[in-house]
Amino acid sequence: MSETELKINTSTIESGAENPPQIIIRDLWKVFGRDPKRVLGKKYRDLGKDEIQKKTGCVVGMREVSLEIRKGQFYILMGLSGSGKSTLVRNIIRLVNPTSGTVEINGTDVTKLSQEDLLQFRRKTFGMVFQHYGLLPHMTVLDNVAYGLKVRGLPKGERYAKAMQTIETVGLKGWEDYYPGSLSGGMQQRVGIARALANDPEILLMDEPFSGLDPLIRRQMQDELVELQDKLQKTIVFVTHDLHEALKLGDKIAIMRNGRVVQVDTPEEIVTNPADDYVREFVRDASPAKVLTASSIMEPPKVLLYRWEGPKTALTLMQANNRKAAFVVDKAHRLLGVARADKLEKLLESGDKPGAIPDSHISRVSSVTEETILEDMFSIVSENPYPIPVVDDNGKFRGIVTTDQIFESISPMEGDEND
Ligand SMILES: Nc1ncnc2c1ncn2[C@@H]1O[C@H](COP(=O)(O)OP(=O)(O)O)[C@@H](O)[C@H]1O
Ligand SMILES: [Mg+2]
Repeated sequence: MSETELKINTSTIESGAENPPQIIIRDLWKVFGRDPKRVLGKKYRDLGKDEIQKKTGCVVGMREVSLEIRKGQFYILMGLSGSGKSTLVRNIIRLVNPTSGTVEINGTDVTKLSQEDLLQFRRKTFGMVFQHYGLLPHMTVLDNVAYGLKVRGLPKGERYAKAMQTIETVGLKGWEDYYPGSLSGGMQQRVGIARALANDPEILLMDEPFSGLDPLIRRQMQDELVELQDKLQKTIVFVTHDLHEALKLGDKIAIMRNGRVVQVDTPEEIVTNPADDYVREFVRDASPAKVLTASSIMEPPKVLLYRWEGPKTALTLMQANNRKAAFVVDKAHRLLGVARADKLEKLLESGDKPGAIPDSHISRVSSVTEETILEDMFSIVSENPYPIPVVDDNGKFRGIVTTDQIFESISPMEGDEND
């Protein structure tokens, strides 16, 4: 049996407890129009967006948005066109001033910053990537990327060195003297990303950066961004209206509708537990096989063998539980492989009494990590007579995934029968 360890989705860091929130948004509103604050008064604030517009002439861009985004998180804002995604991003960086509410970044309330402090804060904290690259056509790639550094007052040598390094990071080495117009869309957007990264910002804001690209190039850019994020570990706020892009890239997804955030969850939760019909409609085409991970469906094995306990104990355990084979771990709980009852039986009959299960009686098996998605387990299931063992990054045994569990989890979700 071959030992192929699948390691997938290593890019995402857990949206876990260790990272404190870096961006804290509280009750943020943006109303466009004349005297927008009045919309927040009792009379209007609970009305629907259309009604508010009819009665006041004001457009609610975003309302009652409260979010926490953690350091290093890949955070997706998703929603139909006009749902308020760009408005939210622009408010975070204060390209647009919120009507009310607060945006706290690294402990600073950016809504309170003076114009001068704001400029400084923006430069040092954010990198921004737009859908329409926003490159300066009369400047070379190098000058475009170095531009932000020039604005910051870095000496020429330093900013070109830094810009070159970033150009290399996004795979554009050799293109630095070209003008944006001679580059393909995908390459221009790489320049856009390089420019945003040149400053080494803590937070990247990306507003539909790949929406203008051909599907193939788009997927390639997504893959590259995943790789880049794995290396750089920035906090990324990424806007998209494409579900598969969101699922592929996001640690967390906030779904917006009519200016509100209607659900914030992991990709997996969004797909399996959509909060309302709007979200359900969004995720209808999502395949659970592309989002569910091994950790969400694994279970403990009936029998787990500790190598050092020896073949006799192993055999007894297997027989008592009616198993023909079982996984074996070492003292550090690392997965060693699989031992078969019939082989151990033969070993014992031969009169051998080794203290531990011998290596020769442990077969290597394919394993997956906790983050492996279902789709990537199909090929293993089909070639493998055993359940699939799940191990952590240190090779420690965490549980098993059986064929039954896999097929159960991808069968239609409850409540979908009537669709
Ligand atoms: N400058 C503006 N003036 C008036 N209305 C605006 C302005 N910018 C955005 N809006 C409105 O705010 C709502 C949200 O827009 P936007 O944030 O651009 O949505 P999305 O990025 O999700 O497509 C829309 O109804 C839009 O028409
Ligand atoms: Mg937009």
